[in-house]
Amino acid sequence: MKKDLLKLIDLSADDITLILDTADKLKAEQKAGIKHDFPAGKTLAMIFAKNSTRTRVSFEVGIFQLGGHGIFLSNADSQLGRGEPIEDTARVLSRYCDCIMIRTFEQEEVEQLAKHSTIPVINALTDFEHPCQVLADIMTIREHKGALKGLKACWIGDGNNVANSMIAGCLTCGMDVSIACPEGYRPDPQILEFAAKFPGKFTLTDKPEEAAKAADVIFTDVWASMGQEEETAKRQAAFKGYQVNDALMALANPSCMIQHCLPAHKGEEITEKVFEKHAQEIFDEAENRLHVQKAIMYLLMKK
Ligand code: CP
Ligand code: NVA
Repeated sequence: MKKDLLKLIDLSADDITLILDTADKLKAEQKAGIKHDFPAGKTLAMIFAKNSTRTRVSFEVGIFQLGGHGIFLSNADSQLGRGEPIEDTARVLSRYCDCIMIRTFEQEEVEQLAKHSTIPVINALTDFEHPCQVLADIMTIREHKGALKGLKACWIGDGNNVANSMIAGCLTCGMDVSIACPEGYRPDPQILEFAAKFPGKFTLTDKPEEAAKAADVIFTDVWASMGQEEETAKRQAAFKGYQVNDALMALANPSCMIQHCLPAHKGEEITEKVFEKHAQEIFDEAENRLHVQKAIMYLLMKK
């Protein structure tokens, strides 16, 4: 493992396996009421330039369960929101804390924060990737399916931050990946370049029916991400026909799972019926954010 966790295109299959195995172990310990073997009193700085429910709560609960403490820093009331440079913030937080988690817009900001910090930095969502989310998703798929290699993972909808991480993470874990996005909403070119290293394992189409065929897991996400609220109407038109509904699910493997990072816009990217039918998997996925992030903090801070 590197010093930081910034994006899934940086992680090897061994890195991901180590994170998932550690997450499984920490989850089992927590369920059994066994104390984790982790040094007490570690502090996590939690920088948020965007809204959050799951990420904030799961990181804060996670560091607490590891015997440490989380400090919530929103742009609204920290000096970051008034323009203090990221490299100065990095050097200051490195003097007080043991790890920094950041949710922001530009991936470059996270890269700069990591470059100027002497402590580990974790990307908790940028416009480019959402690595913690997809690690939790892969953990959930492994729990439900028993293994990952050879499964067909499908993405329907916007080629956004979660899609970028899903492509990188699933391909690295030996899964086949099919993506259905409208023209103009495809995954980042850097991710498509990464996917090109897996010949025969990756397909990109604008036909959801083609991508969903024989899928073992279908992923989707909102059509307008945080920061794109003004494009909502335009996006609703562009993604018409990209809904995960009964007709699409009928093309997938009969045991096909659903993964949705949440929050969901039911009636848009997914019908309420399909969502509720797969609620167990979707809320297992939300729970696994906690376990996977504890594993990431455990591995990065224990060094
Ligand atoms: N899935 C996810 O990251 O949720 P939040 O935006 O609530 O943190
Ligand atoms: N793509 C969504 C994910 C939210 C967890 C967003 O960036 O808003």
